Amino acid sequence: MKILGIETSCDETGVAIYSETGGLLAHRLYSQTAMHERHGGVVPELASRDHVQKLAPLIRATVREAGITCAALDAVAFTAGPGLIGALLVGATLARSLAWGLGIPAIPIHHMEAHLLAPMLEVDRPSFPFLALLVSGGHTMLVRVEGLGDYQILGESLDDAAGEAFDKTAKLLGLGYPGGPAVERLAAQGKTGRFVFPRPMTDRPGLDFSFSGLKTFCANTVRQHQRDEADKADIALAFMEAVVDTFVIKCRRALRETGLKTLVVAGGVSANKALRQALDELARSLRAQVYYPQAQFCTDNGAMIAYAGYLRHRAGVQAPLGFKVQARWSLEDIGV
Ligand code: KG4
Ligand code: ZN
Repeated sequence: MKILGIETSCDETGVAIYSETGGLLAHRLYSQTAMHERHGGVVPELASRDHVQKLAPLIRATVREAGITCAALDAVAFTAGPGLIGALLVGATLARSLAWGLGIPAIPIHHMEAHLLAPMLEVDRPSFPFLALLVSGGHTMLVRVEGLGDYQILGESLDDAAGEAFDKTAKLLGLGYPGGPAVERLAAQGKTGRFVFPRPMTDRPGLDFSFSGLKTFCANTVRQHQRDEADKADIALAFMEAVVDTFVIKCRRALRETGLKTLVVAGGVSANKALRQALDELARSLRAQVYYPQAQFCTDNGAMIAYAGYLRHRAGVQAPLGFKVQARWSLEDIGV
């Protein structure tokens, strides 16, 4: 069984082919970062237009790299939401047309489901059930995962997503877009303890998050204390430590409350090394296991869509022909 996966929900065009027997046969990614950088963030209309130009050639190149032809494909999986509606439509239209032409099913995939399944692409993979910490540019949530499509959201951000907080902090510090890797690089030169940022919503029960206050705290600190590069690095580190600590506190609480012993961390922010180190330590102290996707599959990619498509196709999931892409779509509403 061979599944083509197509990701176009935001600013990356991702294509991959996953085979039941051979694993990931090929994967390609075209990032629009350079185009959006000069605008300080993603411009939706530019994103859609670029997907239109890049997607078909990327599919051709990926199929060639896998050493197969399209006739060997069993299904085409595509990101159907959540995401930028125009960008989603590009992937959905091409995926559906290709599938129709080949006489095979097109499988709509929930972007966050694909993120949380991405660690299963690895040889040392988690098995159900597990707790998932999903930390991306658009979402931050803790999810109880019982099986494919069986998701219960235990907590989520009431305002900004973690990645968004990294991006906004980067902007305040005059760093480029996307902000996460830039803040992480700068924080590596910071002195710990000079600034201490709040750990939002950790002093009350529950598993929800809030990151917009951190941004204000950061803005005030920048205004009052930022004089040179060293100050900038100290602020970046204080911000990152606050985010990491908040996740450690909430993951510890969620693992205790659910009794689960497996933690999966996925989404763009899961590439952060400080976060990984802190969660590794947490898992050790609780005798739990923690799994991450490999770095290239933390941020958006086609491989996770192909893999989610494989699991759904194997499970016999059929989507109605009238299925529409959805800019907003809860993980709890997908089912199997
Ligand atoms: O999952 P993703 O590629 O896209 C969404 O589905 O949103 O996540 C992108 C987000 C961006 O906000 C980016 O700044 C953040 O992930 N990110 C990071 C790191 N690498 C990417 N945040 C912190 N540290 C990183 N190393
Ligand atoms: Zn994503």
